[in-house]
Amino acid sequence: MKTNDKLEPTVFVIFGGAGDLTWRKLVPALFDLSQDRSMPADFSVITVDRIDLSDEKLRRRLHDGVKKFSRQGKVKAAEWSEFARHIHYQQGDFKKLQTYSALGEQCAKLEKEWGTKAHRIFYMATPPSMFGEIPKYLGKAGLASDRKWARIVVEKPIGYDLESARALNAILAANFEECQIFRIDHYLGKETVQNILAFRFANPLFEPLWNRRYVDYVTITAVEAVGVEHRGGYYDHAGALRDMVQNHLMQLLCLVAMEPMVSFNADEIRNKKVDVLHAVRPIPRDAVHQCVVRGQYGPGWVEGKKVSSYREEDGVSRDSQTETFVALKLFLDNWRWQDVPFYLRTGKRLTRQASEIAIQFRGVPHQSFPPESGRDWHPSRLVLSIQPEEGIISSFQAKYPGPKMLLRPVDMRFNYRESFAAPSPDAYETLLWDVMKNDATLFMRVDQVEAAWRLFMPVLEVWAVAPPSDFPNYAAGTWGPEDALGLLAQGHSWPLPTELAGKCKKKEKN
Ligand code: BG6
Repeated sequence: MKTNDKLEPTVFVIFGGAGDLTWRKLVPALFDLSQDRSMPADFSVITVDRIDLSDEKLRRRLHDGVKKFSRQGKVKAAEWSEFARHIHYQQGDFKKLQTYSALGEQCAKLEKEWGTKAHRIFYMATPPSMFGEIPKYLGKAGLASDRKWARIVVEKPIGYDLESARALNAILAANFEECQIFRIDHYLGKETVQNILAFRFANPLFEPLWNRRYVDYVTITAVEAVGVEHRGGYYDHAGALRDMVQNHLMQLLCLVAMEPMVSFNADEIRNKKVDVLHAVRPIPRDAVHQCVVRGQYGPGWVEGKKVSSYREEDGVSRDSQTETFVALKLFLDNWRWQDVPFYLRTGKRLTRQASEIAIQFRGVPHQSFPPESGRDWHPSRLVLSIQPEEGIISSFQAKYPGPKMLLRPVDMRFNYRESFAAPSPDAYETLLWDVMKNDATLFMRVDQVEAAWRLFMPVLEVWAVAPPSDFPNYAAGTWGPEDALGLLAQGHSWPLPTELAGKCKKKEKN
């Protein structure tokens, strides 16, 4: 295996090592890193879980995950065996101190073998109920205190509301320092999400226009065609606001609205992001219904297939009031964005998958072209397409060929796949690499998580006492409940997801 000599020895301890996240995301990402020379020469992956499993059985199961999810395509047997010998299984109860003492001994043994100290990364890939337990035991076992060598990785959900998030953060803080805590929001690992900073602050072109003077409104969309899949049990207690808005959509909002950072330093960038959350105008309890729309899907057709309603999904209560769709309108009270609406929406079982941010610019201040020139007039729009299309589209007016002055909207496109030969790594590869390098830029700091919860508490509280009377209120395969249109100011619209490949437009007749 080709290794990276610059990386120091590392032990990955994955709690929940027999679980889905390890199988689907973590081990395929580590394997892909190893294939890209991005793993240290000395590393070990110790997976801890409660079930009885041998190293061999675990490796077979993980091999299957790597074959399915690795970016490398076909996995060569020799490459897998070389990687797999670093993986070990340790059976243990997450709530017993002896599990942690055994881990400590195992880490010490590896360090002795390698003749040096190793970084110890404790990854909680367990059900959320364990997030408050594991750090306590790591603390008790003396595995948390080494500021330089020990790190803990926490998956979302970070709490269920502000109070539980604070309680969890307090447990983490009692055992680890903030610089040792890596709270994952996998959206931040996506290339196209990281590219928002590159696009905004490595180019002087758009930044002067990126404000209330030129921007009419912004839409942030993260919609999916899939339903809750096998996660009905979790999702029915969470809902779209907790599952997507409080974290992924807020991250996108922060990146698109933040001020330029002074340096590319983790805390500097995170400070600027938190400033955005502090600027969000609080949603008053009595305005929740005017600012936020919730929905739940009924049966319908998605991508040519008949699908059942949310309430018929496995693990979901038959009279569930959980929202699978949220649309909301926010304002930022600061100099840059005062009075510019930010419309956000997310949902499951919509027409198709698309995550994108559209910056809708204002129209020209004075229309000097003859009225007949612009029957199809649209003010300029810039779309940052996160997925499945990866790139940027700028739409503007151009003169249509011919003797007359006719204006038509056209697109200029940047497509990741066409511009760069290099494949995009999976978000987890980037994030695991950053944890190894001790770089917290792409991770959520405690104040950011709590600020995001604080914003949505009025919504959660109002919803808790006023259950929806109209669920299900949208058919699977549509763009969500009609009420989402009611959030938009006159002349504003939810844009349809863009296609970077573009379609040949029929020749226009004049
Ligand atoms: C997860 C949510 O955080 O993000 C899921 O829990 C959602 O419900 C997923 O499907 C979307 O992520 P991605 O990367 O597939 O867009």
